[in-house]
Amino acid sequence: MRLSPQERAMLSGERGEAAQSAMEIVVTLGRIYDAQRLLPVQSVQVAGVSYRNLGEAGLEFLHDWAREGARARVPATLNPAGMDMENWRRMGVSEVFARKQMDVLEVYSLMGIEPTCTCTPYLSGNVPEFGQHVAWSESSAVSYANSVLGARTNCEGGPSALAAAITGRTADYGLHLDENRRATHRVEVRCPVRRPYEFAALGYLVGREIRRGVPWFVGLELSPIDADPIRAPDEPKARTRDVLKLMGAALASSGAVGLYHVQGVTPEARALPDLCQKGIPTLTVESLEPTIAALHTRAPVQSIDLVAIGCPHASLGELRQVAEGLRGAHLSSDLWVTVARSVRDQAKALGLVEIIEDAGGLVVADTCVVVAPMQEIGYHSVATNSAKLAAYALPHAGLQVRFGSLESCLSAAIDGHWHTVAGKPAAWPGEVATTMGLVPAVVGPGPTSEESAEMPLTLRGRVIVEGHVSGLALVSTEPIGFLGGVDPDTGLVIERGQVLEGQSVAGRILVFPFGKGSTVGSYTIYRLGKAGLAPRAIINIEAEPIVAVGALIAGVPMVDRVDISRLRTGMHVVVHGEVIRCE
Ligand code: F3S
Repeated sequence: MRLSPQERAMLSGERGEAAQSAMEIVVTLGRIYDAQRLLPVQSVQVAGVSYRNLGEAGLEFLHDWAREGARARVPATLNPAGMDMENWRRMGVSEVFARKQMDVLEVYSLMGIEPTCTCTPYLSGNVPEFGQHVAWSESSAVSYANSVLGARTNCEGGPSALAAAITGRTADYGLHLDENRRATHRVEVRCPVRRPYEFAALGYLVGREIRRGVPWFVGLELSPIDADPIRAPDEPKARTRDVLKLMGAALASSGAVGLYHVQGVTPEARALPDLCQKGIPTLTVESLEPTIAALHTRAPVQSIDLVAIGCPHASLGELRQVAEGLRGAHLSSDLWVTVARSVRDQAKALGLVEIIEDAGGLVVADTCVVVAPMQEIGYHSVATNSAKLAAYALPHAGLQVRFGSLESCLSAAIDGHWHTVAGKPAAWPGEVATTMGLVPAVVGPGPTSEESAEMPLTLRGRVIVEGHVSGLALVSTEPIGFLGGVDPDTGLVIERGQVLEGQSVAGRILVFPFGKGSTVGSYTIYRLGKAGLAPRAIINIEAEPIVAVGALIAGVPMVDRVDISRLRTGMHVVVHGEVIRCE
């Protein structure tokens, strides 16, 4: 990889310890993806802000970097924190949590990162231009930046975004490159998709089906949009942006999808229609009903504790719809509309906050249901119009879920009960019917017992983090998401339905195809390491940034490009650099 003199100076430690550690992360990612150079970035959006996800270990990590002199070189903003920084008492957040959360924000501010605390920085003035390179980490914001604005960013992990802010650089790979912005799947939508929650369900379904790639949607009736939402506040375009915000968040929650195109609508699809070429797989969506039904959790829900709107954080237009639906009402359930602070200020000036709060709801800034300490607050069930929140609420916040339109959610807030369960009894999202007939096999079933009796076996891979260790293998045929998927305090896999559910990763040679899920997962691996519960080594088919950066900062040896179909749980495995010996 070619480095400029300034980049080499950072890597050699001439610009201080923090710049050196940050440059090591950026360069490691470049090496993993065979990048030829680093790119200057115009802005950075940093995830890993809620104290609930960072824990004490993550907070110490940030303090260490700040002490070593870490300072942002480019404009950088923060993802949501664990509470509304002004009104945390009204949310029911404890004093202890609040103090820790304030500490997190102070240390980020010390590093020069603006404590905007939103997953929609583009609604608060951080609007990258078409073609500009940025380093954003919240997956829904990444999807919006790439797809709706036509900017270019990979989905950075929490620490890798921070590294990009400190160095002002990211490696030139993935969605920064023209060739990776081409469509990989054509999605023909043949059923009506009109209401925002239907766009969310469509995103969730397509993400689950393709798992990773760049979908090209055909058949969605939306107004064409240009790249700048601030300078073009026109109604149909604002509606298009709002529904695409929900759809992109869902796509990125069920699959590793950081970019999509909508034919004739999104800016890159309009500028470059040949991004969708003949011969790519076509998926046909005939119905969203099974997906909508599957987004309810299975357990019976007697009453709705909380209705949550604003995942991603709500726009002014969405706040207006909520206010119109609640004018003069009296709520039986709690209701949160989660927003960026600047959007709440605008809504306050327009009288919208007053209408919602007169009805008994809260317009909550700086946080969201997924990152706030919901169990500490005491909620057990949630109704939402966001497919991303529906998918995350149980594993990340321990909440039972009802999913539906904004109107159904507002009725639930008024009555305290959910009325319109679509379809049959709700299945777990993992059981969504595969109506489109494309479910890629991830890996083979592993060797039979006779084959394994013929071991020892020697495999080779590529070193991501150098190390020499041995231990017993724990093999997952499915991707692993660390945040919400592995408990950092016990080391147990807690993702519902994951093949390793209930097993501990501590001290094992953890084998899985690739990482998935929240970009804050790197800090979960770091927390596991600090608690002595990390895997002894990680072996992947393909390293992705979240796990790679987590392994790097936690000091866990990691190897990828390994044929893991030969490995099975219980084998004794020796990892010696790039060589893996199994007995
Ligand atoms: Fe934003 Fe929280 Fe949803 S970060 S996208 S509101 S899960």
